[in-house]
Amino acid sequence: MILKNKINYLLMESIKETSVDFTNKILNTATQFKKEDVRTDLLKNKIFGLLFFEPSTRTCLSFESAIHRLGGKVIKYNSDYSSEKKGESLEDTIRTLESYVDVFIIRHPEKDILSKIKKITRNPIINAGDGSGEHPTQALLDLFTIQEYYPKLPDNIAFTGDIKHSRTIHSLVYLLHKFNQNIKFYFVADKDLLPDDKMFKEINYECLNEISSIIDKIDVLYVTRLQKERYVNGLNVKNIMINKNLVDLSKENLIIMHPLPRNDELSTDLDNDKKSKYFQQVENGVYIRMSILFNLFCP
Ligand code: NCD
Repeated sequence: MILKNKINYLLMESIKETSVDFTNKILNTATQFKKEDVRTDLLKNKIFGLLFFEPSTRTCLSFESAIHRLGGKVIKYNSDYSSEKKGESLEDTIRTLESYVDVFIIRHPEKDILSKIKKITRNPIINAGDGSGEHPTQALLDLFTIQEYYPKLPDNIAFTGDIKHSRTIHSLVYLLHKFNQNIKFYFVADKDLLPDDKMFKEINYECLNEISSIIDKIDVLYVTRLQKERYVNGLNVKNIMINKNLVDLSKENLIIMHPLPRNDELSTDLDNDKKSKYFQQVENGVYIRMSILFNLFCP
């Protein structure tokens, strides 16, 4: 009876380390899982620890749903009701939970936190969002959703919102670039929200402050909220607003995406528009996360 199979390696810290081959494997398995609405008990011997030190609805609960559908067990760490409130260090928390679970799925407000955590545990770790760093599993579900409409990736993709701090944008841009070096990225935002020079080296992009000049050129529009929690001194800029009047000027086959949660940057008057795919991203999140767990832990 094998209950523990501790391996000293880190999984999915950054999407940059995920190969094209492995990504294709994840996308293909997810397609199958979606088609057949799979339920199995293949992961019945694994206990997954969901450690969310930042709020989450979709990432946390879709991981939980994915684990249930594959027959695994879940332990959820709740920082509001744990010894963190009594001053316990992250290190002691990780050392403790390592005795209870086989795999860590971690979200944390600090960028690059996983490079610290991997030094204190031998459990595999999946990055569920590290501050303003990356969000690799979201990038995989975003790519999966894009490919449902564009099996061959499109050439013109625009991102609006907090480009500098949105980890979903960072991971998705890196992943898309890996698959198609010809993509032209448009980053549309106030100058304070635009990426710095180091962020997307080697990537073909253009920064703009308004969207109307490109709305009829783009194939994908990826909208994000302002990451208010990342600004210590508050935030005094306006986000780009996406609504039906604007989208009426777009190409017929444009798709509109958003990782959610939204604030007021994406008008609800688009929710029933055939171009809107954000609730499809939500649905695909379960199949992609099932596929990730299946491909990593059911060899
Ligand atoms: C995002 C996140 O947490 O990075 N949401 C998500 O995981 N689906 C986006 C955000 O918080 O703005």
